[in-house]
Amino acid sequence: MCGIVGYTGFREAEPILITALNRLEYRGYDSAGMATLSGRTLHLRKKAGKIANLARLLKEKPAAGTTGISHTRWATHGAATDRNAHPHLGGNCALALVHNGVIENYSILRSNLEMAGFQFSSDTDTEVLAQLIAFHWEKKGRGLDLRDFVLAISQSLSQVKGTFGIAAVSPHFPGAVFGARLGSPLVLGFGEKEFFLASDAMALAGLAKKAIFLEDHQICVLTPDSWSLQDMDQSAIDPAIETLDFQNAEYDRGRFDHYMLKEIYEQPEALENALRGRLNDKDSTARFGGLNLPLQQLRKTERIILTGCGTSYHAGLVGEYLFEELARMPVEVEYASEFRYRNPPIEQNTLVIALTQSGETADTLAALRETKLKGVPVLSLCNVVGSSIAREADGGVYLHAGPEIGVASTKAFSNQVAVLSLLALFFGRMRHLSPHQGAQILEGLKSLPDAMRKTLECEEQARDIASNYHQARNFLYMGRQYLYPVALEAALKLKEISYIHAEGYPAAEMKHGPIALVDSETPSVFLISPGPMYDKVMSNLEEVKARGGPVIAVASHVDPALRAKADEIIEVPRLPEWLQPVVSNIPLQLLAYHIALMRGCDVDKPRNLAKSVTVE
Ligand code: AGP
Repeated sequence: MCGIVGYTGFREAEPILITALNRLEYRGYDSAGMATLSGRTLHLRKKAGKIANLARLLKEKPAAGTTGISHTRWATHGAATDRNAHPHLGGNCALALVHNGVIENYSILRSNLEMAGFQFSSDTDTEVLAQLIAFHWEKKGRGLDLRDFVLAISQSLSQVKGTFGIAAVSPHFPGAVFGARLGSPLVLGFGEKEFFLASDAMALAGLAKKAIFLEDHQICVLTPDSWSLQDMDQSAIDPAIETLDFQNAEYDRGRFDHYMLKEIYEQPEALENALRGRLNDKDSTARFGGLNLPLQQLRKTERIILTGCGTSYHAGLVGEYLFEELARMPVEVEYASEFRYRNPPIEQNTLVIALTQSGETADTLAALRETKLKGVPVLSLCNVVGSSIAREADGGVYLHAGPEIGVASTKAFSNQVAVLSLLALFFGRMRHLSPHQGAQILEGLKSLPDAMRKTLECEEQARDIASNYHQARNFLYMGRQYLYPVALEAALKLKEISYIHAEGYPAAEMKHGPIALVDSETPSVFLISPGPMYDKVMSNLEEVKARGGPVIAVASHVDPALRAKADEIIEVPRLPEWLQPVVSNIPLQLLAYHIALMRGCDVDKPRNLAKSVTVE
């Protein structure tokens, strides 16, 4: 998704804007640009492609100035070209604007502006917004009081349907940076005699320690010695100033070639952080500090709906098994993009839990808002403190996975599953689980990080297997019960970073069609664990072998039959079934990583993908 950075203060803006923009690079984009002010002169530079292309342009055409905005664009309207890159100008260079989000009614607004004599130079919805602000400012007589310009912004945004996070500068207001938010995050950062604006707090690492997270319908104005925040109706606001807690080391790759590999290896420690302070050994249950819902209300919960997108949705599928087994509660798992529009009947005593790493996924945020509109309590399991979903939920549990920079989610998945296990224990102990059973579950969770550390030793084996199969054009992943969601998650991991087509299935589904795909060029990955499903999964495996399909097994139980049948076996620690997903997923994260590398793919920033999908 797009990234926004704004700066005004006493230092040169260019280097600050580029450095901060690089911290947002992981979010995915296809062009970058910057507008800086030196006095009343506006300098506009923008380029398709990587931020490095923009940096080269800045070197060719350096411009002094202590005020500016910069942007990485993930194309929604108009191809990824220089002319469609942000910033976009409004009027006769009355302003330069960058924008995250989608202006849904941009075409009618554009037609009206063209009839008013405005000419456009791009295919973007953002340029329409820039021109609209210029239109309202000029119509009001081009007043040179900051409030005149804020009024023009407010009037323009009131005509917009859709979402936006914007930043703007104008040569008529030297030193000022304007920001506004509706549906797309914006953070106001405080430095020493300087101010920052960003679409993601991560851009402010090393720059600001205090910040305000703008709410929807708010406009801010930053100058080198002042800041103000108001509602669209000009009423002043007294917001909460929050502390930003960045450990710079978290943002460096350290000894790893890629953030994704670093984050795969961080999983044991990240999971320990998810558990820290939440294991109540005295009462053999879990404890949370932020559910913000009365215990009696939680006890009355009769059904749970888990909702999220992508990997978060897959974590929800594991959560379904966890709540059903540990808490004996009916659970439904919904793709947030479907749930927000399906308008399902939601009975009393239902609890909705939104699962998200970024806390900014548009569909999940919309599902949360729709749920709250129905008076249904919503919790969020989120990794980014202060994100929109975390702030708009009634309560929630932070994942404490640390910044997840790689677009392909890894440690957030593990921590979501860990937190869902804690919640299932919590609800189970409120219902039928005995203290002894609760204690056993706590012991199981405590054993997980070391089991993950041991599993990470399989990387070399995963790399060897990757070298045998990285040219395949299709992969199948099969698992049953708790390992079925892992099959889906492993298929997504391979798809999104290696661009190989991959599908995950409940193993028994093979016979209902997918087995037609099996041939000698299509590897089938089977997730195998002992227990009542073992023989059945072995039968499915043999059906694949009988048709000449190569078989890769990730198994917590290896017997002679499996050795005889599987072409490759990665053995993982054997855990209770409900703990197995997080461990069995690791070899397949590593397999996807090495296959992608061998195919020359950009592992941390795969094509077409964004780390946080903040538009529909
Ligand atoms: C996961 O590897 C993907 N990058 C993607 O599916 C992601 O899980 C999805 O977009 C949801 O993001 P969220 O968890 O930040 O809401």
